Amino acid sequence: MIDVIVTRKTLEAEGILSFELTRADDGVLMPFSAGSHIDVHLPSGQIRQYSLCNHPSELHRYQIGVLLDPASRGGSKAMHALVEGSRLQISEPRNLFALAHGGRRSLLFAGGIGITPILCMAERLAQIDADFQLHYCGRSRSQVAFVERIQHSIFSDHAHLHFDDQPDTQLNAAQALASYAEGDHLYVCGPAGFMEFILSEARNAGWPADSLHREYFAVQPLTQMNEGSFEVVLASSGRCLHVPADRSVAEVLLESGIDLPLSCEQGICGTCLTRVLEGEPDHRDMFMTPAEQAANDQFTPCCSRSKSPRLVLDL
Ligand code: FES
Repeated sequence: MIDVIVTRKTLEAEGILSFELTRADDGVLMPFSAGSHIDVHLPSGQIRQYSLCNHPSELHRYQIGVLLDPASRGGSKAMHALVEGSRLQISEPRNLFALAHGGRRSLLFAGGIGITPILCMAERLAQIDADFQLHYCGRSRSQVAFVERIQHSIFSDHAHLHFDDQPDTQLNAAQALASYAEGDHLYVCGPAGFMEFILSEARNAGWPADSLHREYFAVQPLTQMNEGSFEVVLASSGRCLHVPADRSVAEVLLESGIDLPLSCEQGICGTCLTRVLEGEPDHRDMFMTPAEQAANDQFTPCCSRSKSPRLVLDL
């Protein structure tokens, strides 16, 4: 955990604030790579993940952008209530959305607040003089953040802005995704529908699965949580725990004194990933790839459940 101070809070667009965080002891921050995020521990006790959007060579500050979500479970509201001078604790940066090494060409797609990790990637790709294009989509100019920064950046020639209320700027995804060649990589971050659209267009255009990279900054609420009870067995002790329909596996494990690391509690970050030795998990996470889920040898107990009456966990 790192103690930081909010040294700058800036209105970037309608409902979007950026926060500059520096170490409370004036020290240097941990280096990070493009696509990294930090866990922010809010005064309310909630933990939220935010992508770092400043230049990855900066060590004196981290910058994050936060959209005030009307359907917020409290995280973005609590972030927006912070003032300059507020103290927070954050985790070290982690990267679950890294740029592929030695890529030939990179296509970056951002929808709305999904620009944050993508911006950091663009800074890095420009720094190493890589071949890349950035497509940034939003409802209107006033609702998207960091446009001036992009327009005045060294990669402004690589950037294409697409606004729903300006039909002549609309993204032609099929055109942007044409001519895949080996070594090309696609990175997308934004609302689930936006990401699905870009990824399905890419698949249709022949982009292979291992060239497609996505980052979740929010998930849809888990509406099917209450679907049957089951048992989990702890392999180390043989202890059997009942998971009722209205509780998560993580809740049951924690209540039983099992030390389970948790962060997002939404199946995004992978912090709670646990090995499964027997049984068939009902995967509800956004963290693992479809192939990893199909292997059924690990699952995310914060949100996933069980298709079989019993799961044996490597705990
Ligand atoms: Fe983040 Fe479970 S705590 S995936």
